[in-house]
Amino acid sequence: MAKSRSDWWKTSIVYQIYPKSFNDTTGNGMGDIQGIIEKLDYLKKLGIDVIWLSPVYDSPQEDNGYDIRNYREIYEQYGTLEDLDQLLDEVHARGMKLVMDLVVNHTSDEHPWFVESRKDKGNQYRDYYIWRDGKEDGSPPTNWGSIFGGSAWEFDEETEQYYLHLFAKKQPDLNWENEDVRKDIYDMMKFWLDKGVDGFRMDVINFLSKDTRYPDGQIGENDTYGDGGPFFVNGPRIHEFMKEIHQEVLSDYDVMTVGEMPGASPEDAKEYTDPQNDELNMIFTFEHMNLDCVNEDKWNLKDIDLVELKENFEKWQKSLYGVGWNSLYWNNHDQPRIVSRFGDDGQYREKSAKMLATCLHMMQGTPYIYQGEELGMTNVRFDQLEDYRDIEIFNMYDEKRAIGWSHERIMEAIHAKGRDNARTPMQWDDSKSAGFTDGEPWIAVNPRFKEINARAALEDENSNFYHYQALIDLRKKHEVITEGKFELVLRDDPNVFAYKRVGKDEALYVLCNFSDRTVKIDDEGLVESLRDAEVWITNEDQGEIGKLQPYEGVVYGV
Ligand code: NOJ
Repeated sequence: MAKSRSDWWKTSIVYQIYPKSFNDTTGNGMGDIQGIIEKLDYLKKLGIDVIWLSPVYDSPQEDNGYDIRNYREIYEQYGTLEDLDQLLDEVHARGMKLVMDLVVNHTSDEHPWFVESRKDKGNQYRDYYIWRDGKEDGSPPTNWGSIFGGSAWEFDEETEQYYLHLFAKKQPDLNWENEDVRKDIYDMMKFWLDKGVDGFRMDVINFLSKDTRYPDGQIGENDTYGDGGPFFVNGPRIHEFMKEIHQEVLSDYDVMTVGEMPGASPEDAKEYTDPQNDELNMIFTFEHMNLDCVNEDKWNLKDIDLVELKENFEKWQKSLYGVGWNSLYWNNHDQPRIVSRFGDDGQYREKSAKMLATCLHMMQGTPYIYQGEELGMTNVRFDQLEDYRDIEIFNMYDEKRAIGWSHERIMEAIHAKGRDNARTPMQWDDSKSAGFTDGEPWIAVNPRFKEINARAALEDENSNFYHYQALIDLRKKHEVITEGKFELVLRDDPNVFAYKRVGKDEALYVLCNFSDRTVKIDDEGLVESLRDAEVWITNEDQGEIGKLQPYEGVVYGV
């Protein structure tokens, strides 16, 4: 147990593994822990420092493990605690670190606490969850909608009360007002930290504190349910809970923490991540991921406006500079593939994927790479709804149909935004099932695996894989990437995302063309300052100062 705390996470690159879709060694169609061990050398070669492992705990898998039945056991299809210990050893032996997912806003309804809790009102675990009487007319205690659709409350016949579930019915919310809950969670965290895990990614951690008056939320036009967000996002006691977690658990270990925080603004992020506050190291913002939709409804599609995207990054880069810390991501298991989203997954797939990586990796913060992103993996377009697996997709389908959306419109939204885009199996090679499994994969493989796979990427020195590797090397070599100040340039250019980073002894310029046209750099001064600069990385052989080819992304050191 190391007491000293250091900032190693500021210079680290994190790689996220979604275990179900990573690598199957048993032939059951699902990835497993031994499968991860088998690929550690691949990750080492990429150059990453930290692995974030999405949940591997015992779970009925209603939401692929974000519904935990036992926090101290491994889901049997993934392996055993011994496998996990071995993984940890093997990760450490290679000089890397392992961060686990911490899902403590809710458990599975099959967790023994909930099984007890629902038995009777006097049960000692009753207060571990949030039980309320219905309104006078018998309707749910509040009008809140659940994030996965339907009401956020489920009526339980046995004791004739409702319980709160911000996500699926099988994911009841824990009652963080209850000190015993908090204590049990802290013990569980210590169990993992004492094993040697190097930190936590904390699932929807800014939802823990609810406004215990439970008011109704506002109902928008066309909405069936009210918005409970104002009463649980960054709720009344959230900073107290974060400080307590730090005080009771984290302060004893040299670990990293990243809080997943939908609805957090840069101002919130400052408060959560300012080291003086003793809360978290960094958070995941959702703001840049919410720019290509209408009214924060991700299924209601809208084209991205590059100027808005740039200004959003600028806001985060500037607000946290010198105070807190950013995490940098395009992808995770909840987001569609970035090359299909802000790039071009057709003619310019390789090129635009590299450009997007360059654009993100030169900013200040800790970069996160999601499995397959380093290969430029793309979205999938299943024709049949039945080919999807995600509970969110099925609930959304019914809900949108009920308000009159056509089947075609919904399928288009799923193709663009469905979480299963990220969850198709990792493409290792061009053999059956992309080398992911010898069995039947739990979700179909993306048909593009013959062209896009790790083996092909490793054999091609110009591949996306090596581009990511080079970006990682650059970050290790140049302090300006970690420490430099961010300045947006060409602010109003609708096609080019350009910025400068200014450090103690060095500076760099990043110029990224988000369009499929050749564009001229409309700033003589900028062009002049690039004349004597050195190209640190580029995805373009025909690069010319003053012009950017389609999807060109280039970094100049000055
Ligand atoms: C956020 C996780 O990233 C997502 O996959 C999950 O469904 C919800 N939280 C609920 O745990």
